[in-house]
Amino acid sequence: MSRRVLVVGAGGREHALARALCASGADVVVAPGNPGMPAEMATGTISIDVRPPEEIEADLVVVGPEVPLVDGLADRLRAAGRLVVGPGADGARVEGSKAYMKELLVAAGVPTARHWTVTDPSEAATILADLAPPYVIKTDGLAAGKGVLVTDDLAEALADVADKLSGESFGVAGTTVVIEEGLTGPECSLIALCDGTRAVAFAPAQDFKRIFDGDVGPNTGGMGAYSPMPGLTAIQIDELMDVAVRPTLSALRAAGVDYRGLLYAGLMLTSSGPKVIEFNVRFGDPEAQVVLPRVTGDLVEVLRQAAAGELVDTLSFSQEAAVTVVVAAQGYPAAPVTGAPISGLGADGQLAEPRLGVTIFHAGTARPDPDGPFLVNGGRVLTVTALGPTIAAARSAAYAAADTIEFEGRQLRYDIAARAAEEEAR
Ligand code: AMP
Ligand code: GLY
Repeated sequence: MSRRVLVVGAGGREHALARALCASGADVVVAPGNPGMPAEMATGTISIDVRPPEEIEADLVVVGPEVPLVDGLADRLRAAGRLVVGPGADGARVEGSKAYMKELLVAAGVPTARHWTVTDPSEAATILADLAPPYVIKTDGLAAGKGVLVTDDLAEALADVADKLSGESFGVAGTTVVIEEGLTGPECSLIALCDGTRAVAFAPAQDFKRIFDGDVGPNTGGMGAYSPMPGLTAIQIDELMDVAVRPTLSALRAAGVDYRGLLYAGLMLTSSGPKVIEFNVRFGDPEAQVVLPRVTGDLVEVLRQAAAGELVDTLSFSQEAAVTVVVAAQGYPAAPVTGAPISGLGADGQLAEPRLGVTIFHAGTARPDPDGPFLVNGGRVLTVTALGPTIAAARSAAYAAADTIEFEGRQLRYDIAARAAEEEAR
């Protein structure tokens, strides 16, 4: 096949996709992309195109974010004859409605937290009164990773439910909420590539959801990630696929859904076994920024097979570890302040003083003057990924690089992958 691949989206995840596809020999077009993306690499090119995805010719399309998938973009592209990595609107409901996802998990026999779907504040109060902390409250609909509250404070939980159900905090996405039993344990993002019937796993990653060091403060889209997870063997990963992903794919199939795309299981490894806390219908962001740079072999071909419903190859990964650190805007996640000029980047959007093994993925940047500086243009601004022989080495390299990038009010966590680096040393 000729290798013109369209990536739909504009963030750090899509930048990582574009780079990985390009490294695997594709000419990549990103729509709408961002100004940090265009590149000429030895293996291909990355360019941006702001036309609607339906109007852009491509041999393969990979849809990055959940919103266009929930809105049926993959269906429209397939109707136009395109090969697409990404579920149709039917499959995307797995992420579009947490209540639907929970029903599917229960039907598939996948272990998950006990839950209650609620629209009435007094019913919510009765349920919460019977639960032990931590209290977990989620919007049913999409909220960019910010619709989840986990708290030990019952009064805060009740106030959050009231704000969500009234539509005040998240609009219609919050007028149904899911209350969950609180689970504890390490988290793991396991992202699978599905062809409707079969599923193969990408290397697992761990994400850091809270804004501040030590996992405190509000939930964000994710402030950093690393891969692989020390101690998680290939056999255990396959067991997680058998517990979480494959039964879900079978249940979807039984419901008439031909699910071709990424299925991301957010798992909590509890003392009573792994439990799914969420499914997403796409790559994680920033998980993609550590998982994709580790892919070896022909990524374009494996994605094509999944899109065509004929997945025969598996995925392989380099032995190197990857760590990514998100550099976020002042005020993120509540109210990011945009417009500040960013220093430390060169004209190509990479480090002004390049470092081996380090890649800058742009997420929320703008460049109104093509000869001027990149400006802050979103909550998560850049993700800085480093590869290294160990997690500790990748981690130091990522932080050393991130510290050369400055802008007013810049926020980053300094404990990304710290525990994993210690575990790895044991
Ligand atoms: P979600 O968007 O559903 O992945 O939730 C965001 C974050 O909230 C997760 O990564 C967990 O850290 C936390 N969380 C979600 N559900 C639970 C739960 N049932 N118990 C404890 N923490 C949870
Ligand atoms: N990093 C979590 C997500 O992409 O949902």
